[in-house]
Amino acid sequence: MDLFEYQARDTFEKHGVPVLGGIVATTPDEARAAAATLLGDEPGVVVVKAQVKTGGRGKAGGVKLARSADDAAEKAAEILGMDIKGHTVHRVMIAAGAQIEQEYYFSLLLDRAERRYLAMCSVEGGMEIEQLAVERPEALARVAVDPRVGIDAAKAAEIVEAAGFPTKTSPQIAAKVAAVLQTLWTVYREEDATLVEVNPLVLTKAGDVVALDGKVTLDANADFRHPEHAELEDKAAADPLEARAKEKDLNYVKLDGEVGIIGNGAGLVMSTLDVVAYAGEAHGGVKPANFLDIGGGASAEVMAAGLDIILTDPQVKSVFVNVFGGITACDAVANGIVAALEILGDEASKPLVVRLDGNNVIEGRRILAAAGHPLVTLADTMDGGADKAAELANV
Ligand SMILES: Nc1ncnc2c1ncn2[C@@H]1O[C@H](COP(=O)(O)OP(=O)(O)OP(=O)(O)O)[C@@H](O)[C@H]1O
Ligand SMILES: [Mg+2]
Repeated sequence: MDLFEYQARDTFEKHGVPVLGGIVATTPDEARAAAATLLGDEPGVVVVKAQVKTGGRGKAGGVKLARSADDAAEKAAEILGMDIKGHTVHRVMIAAGAQIEQEYYFSLLLDRAERRYLAMCSVEGGMEIEQLAVERPEALARVAVDPRVGIDAAKAAEIVEAAGFPTKTSPQIAAKVAAVLQTLWTVYREEDATLVEVNPLVLTKAGDVVALDGKVTLDANADFRHPEHAELEDKAAADPLEARAKEKDLNYVKLDGEVGIIGNGAGLVMSTLDVVAYAGEAHGGVKPANFLDIGGGASAEVMAAGLDIILTDPQVKSVFVNVFGGITACDAVANGIVAALEILGDEASKPLVVRLDGNNVIEGRRILAAAGHPLVTLADTMDGGADKAAELANV
């Protein structure tokens, strides 16, 4: 899960990374109040920043200086509702203005191929970092980080040196940056992140090193260790069907087509999507409507929950259930389907093509045939089932 900048800011603050005050606002009035709080009675500047999960906000006009609370409200009115690379701005963050002396770049990310982390750092940070990486890659230091050690004092010193900080002429600045990098490592490890990026990390005129922007990606595989991360989720942006599926612990991804898909095992479901897309070419171009892996224990409850989600998708015209019996044998799956249709009753209103194979397939098919549900068609093969489901969806 990617965090919004304001969430990254709060996370940084929690772990002691130096940040400036920042208050999120969803209306110009809230922006005015936030700016008034940050400015107090002193004259000064705040920065109004679009909160969208994409880069390049500054260049798109989503980051603007404001010189008073009223000015902040005006800038917020301009930025709220703006479209930045397909993301509508629903919130802005009002941030305390920094007096910037210099902008640096730092990121730490998961390097899957090398099975370790990779730190990238440069004394030339700011909005042109992508260009720098292409045109002068030597100016962007890349330092491998051993996950068992992380960024300790020695590693931080190595990164700072490689990034081109003048460790001889301004050792205090290099030391401050190194200390911040160690704190950012704490964020990375304790929050189970796969990315922490700070661009820019700035040196202020007062000589402080501060994170002015933050991108954090959290590892969903570690969610079980972080019940508090659930609050960071952007519920408004989630697809409603996907949100319901998640509540029921289903592995569901909404797609754009008409044929609902249920299978067991990610590999089988992926190939089912391919086969249905291919079969659809002969039936008006219908496509798979979703990915849904009901996993190993295809119980009646899981089958009913899965069917329920798929059948409430108004785009779905037919459903293809493609299950390979393994530890959960086909008779159990067949009983699951029959029971699921009973649980759903009138809600099950779209044709279902079922292809069973594998462990105890003959008994599984017998159970479905004996139940004789009017909406269910049995298929002998995966290709045949996909073709039938595509045909039924093309109405
Ligand atoms: N609080 C602040 N005070 C002063 N200047 C700021 C502040 N926040 C950002 N800036 C300036 O605006 C520039 C862009 O801000 P920021 O890095 O947050 O957005 P961005 O880089 O355009 O967005 P993204 O990182 O999403 O691509 C910074 O490089 C910095 O010069
Ligand atoms: Mg930035």
